[in-house]
Amino acid sequence: MSIAFFNIKGGVGKTSLAVNFALQHDYAIVTNDLYTQLERALPEGKILKVGPGEPFPEIPGDAPVAYDLGGYIDPRIIPVLTRVSHVVVPVLDEDNDIQVTAQAIAEIRQHNPNLVVVPNRLDRDDDAMRIINILVGLEVVDAKTQFFPIKRSKGFSYAMRDGRSIRQQMADNKLMNRAYHAVATQFDALSRYLLQPV
Ligand SMILES: Nc1ncnc2c1ncn2[C@@H]1O[C@H](COP(=O)(O)OP(=O)(O)OP(=O)(O)O)[C@@H](O)[C@H]1O
Ligand SMILES: [Mg+2]
Repeated sequence: MSIAFFNIKGGVGKTSLAVNFALQHDYAIVTNDLYTQLERALPEGKILKVGPGEPFPEIPGDAPVAYDLGGYIDPRIIPVLTRVSHVVVPVLDEDNDIQVTAQAIAEIRQHNPNLVVVPNRLDRDDDAMRIINILVGLEVVDAKTQFFPIKRSKGFSYAMRDGRSIRQQMADNKLMNRAYHAVATQFDALSRYLLQPV
């Protein structure tokens, strides 16, 4: 089951979500972002960086790969968006982010209908509903679109730094269980949905 994490908007959590997912489920990451320090989080054999103008490798759609894709929808990205089982689109609770994300969603939909919108880095539970309502109002989502909110948590930057998923961090240090319980539960719900056969 391969999955793309994509948004035209930067800084929304594509890499953070992709890395935590890859660590938790033993996925590889393929990315067109040469500068993200994935090497800190994942072993060499689990990372593939695709340089500008280089073709994306032809990996079958059912391989355990998470694509961390930044930037505009360049022609190389389209076959990837088409073959993955789901496209995860993180969005932050900022009006500008939501507007740009609405445009991204409209474009992605032309290539893959299996959209999963992740209102991310949330401070309050109702912020997710606000984001969802705006996207519904802009008519870019439909009844098939799935939403999985994710709270703000330091666990994502520690996962990047130490190569330990939020669940692994909880297992390493039981004191983290309380702090991470809610976000880990949210992330498990997202994971379960992404891993079920389409
Ligand atoms: N749920 C979260 N809770 C707390 N911090 C988060 C969360 N998700 C992402 N972040 C933080 O937000 C920042 C941006 O995240 P990230 O780098 O994953 O976004 P991105 O979409 O990959 O950005 P870019 O477009 O630069 O590649 C990082 O500092 C990251 O640690
Ligand atoms: Mg990134």
